[in-house]
Amino acid sequence: MNFHVLTLFPDMIINGLNESITGRAIKNGIISVNAVDIREYSQNKHKKVDDYPYGGGAGMVMQAQPIYDAYADLTKKNGIVNPRVIYVTPQGHTFNQGMAKEFAKEDNLIFLCGHYEGVDERVLEEIVTDYVSIGDYVLTGGELPAMVMIDTISRLVKGVLNNEESAQTETFSNNLLEYPQYTRPEEFRGKKVPEVLLSGHHGNIEKWRLEKSLERTRKYRPDLLEK
Ligand code: ADE
Repeated sequence: MNFHVLTLFPDMIINGLNESITGRAIKNGIISVNAVDIREYSQNKHKKVDDYPYGGGAGMVMQAQPIYDAYADLTKKNGIVNPRVIYVTPQGHTFNQGMAKEFAKEDNLIFLCGHYEGVDERVLEEIVTDYVSIGDYVLTGGELPAMVMIDTISRLVKGVLNNEESAQTETFSNNLLEYPQYTRPEEFRGKKVPEVLLSGHHGNIEKWRLEKSLERTRKYRPDLLEK
């Protein structure tokens, strides 16, 4: 899987994803992350990429030309045709595990990160296929949301997680939150590990875990149970 990110802050993307499990997957050649600096495509002598909004109002708007040229160069250089281009924006559909699964089927994914007050609508109409938000709150830019999505999609790509990591029962895989986990020592600040987990009785352990999952889901995410 090749991730491409059109951004004004390429270092943020590269530095963030070069760590931990995504970093390992990059080193092993299972995924690649290519951050393209939109500013390099500015035709302005000061490398300006934004301007005042037509009609007035606060803030600046990212101009269409540098974004379009960055996209055109990226697709041409990499021989990518008809890619999915995800515009990361609070105005989009809310990202979830199901969307991640869909995106994980692609060979190439292009993310467009906005900044300032927005992006000229015409370039969005030209290149974007999916408008995706990571939740009902507003960040300063699209880089963190793009990294959130890339991380989530990456771990669904075959070979990114090792056996132990992927064998874990997962939150959301069955619309239930995960059960509580314990490790050594058996007692911490007077709190004991639940007896059943020390019993070695797999049937009872399974049952206990399912009960705890249901209890948690009922408490924190009752909306998941309705699904
Ligand atoms: N850009 C700013 N806020 C965002 C959000 N919540 N989701 C996606 N992109 C964003």
